[in-house]
Amino acid sequence: MKHLLSGVVCKNNAVKQQVLVELQNVCRQCRACDLCKSRTDIVFSSGSADAPIMLIGDAPGPDEDTAGKPFVGRAGQLLNTLLAEAGIDRDKDIYMCNTIKCKPPQNRIPTNEEKRSCQVYLTGQISIIKPKIILLCGTSALHSFVDNDLDITEIRGKWLNIFDDIEVMAIYHPLYLLRQHSTEINSPRWQMKNDLEKVKVMLDEIRA
Ligand code: URA
Repeated sequence: MKHLLSGVVCKNNAVKQQVLVELQNVCRQCRACDLCKSRTDIVFSSGSADAPIMLIGDAPGPDEDTAGKPFVGRAGQLLNTLLAEAGIDRDKDIYMCNTIKCKPPQNRIPTNEEKRSCQVYLTGQISIIKPKIILLCGTSALHSFVDNDLDITEIRGKWLNIFDDIEVMAIYHPLYLLRQHSTEINSPRWQMKNDLEKVKVMLDEIRA
C-alpha cells in the first residue's frame, strides 16, 4: 500500500494543517454515496496533524454527526478514559478519524461500497499525517485494511505488517467494551488495557 501514500510530502505542521483543511473542504462537497443526504455534517477528524498516532474508527454515530467530531459520544468517553489510563494523551498524541466521514442511518455498519467511495479521504489523511502508528479501532476499520475473514478477537494487540513504515495494530471498539464489564484476566477490557500499554511502549520508543 506504500505506493498510495507516496504522493504528498508535508514538511511541517502548518502545511499539514492547511492541506488537511483543503481535503476537508473537498470532503464537505462530497456526493459520492447516499450517506451525504442524511448527514448533519461530515465527521472529518480531531487532534493534532503532528500526532504520532492515527486512530481510525468505524463510522460516526449520531453524537459525532451533530458535533462534526469523531468519538465524542459514550464510546468516545470510554476510549478517552482507557487511553488516559495507558498514559496516552488523546489531544496531543492522536489524530482521530473514521473509515467513512458520514453517519450511516440507524448506526448500521458501513457497506463496502460506502467505504470505497470514502477511501480517497482516508488515504489522503494517512498520506498527509504520515503517522508512526495506526490503530484500527473496531472490525469495520480492521476490514478496511485486511481480509474480511480475519477476526479482530484473534489479531488485536499484534503489530500488523500492512505498511512498510507504519506500525499498525487492531484494537477493540469502545462500543463493544461498553457491553463488557469484567476486567478479569483475558477479558476484553483486560486485553484492551494490555494492547494500549503496548502502544504506549511503542510510542515511547519512537520518541526516544
Ligand atoms: N464509533 C466510531 O467508530 N467512530 C466514531 O467517531 C464514533 C463512534
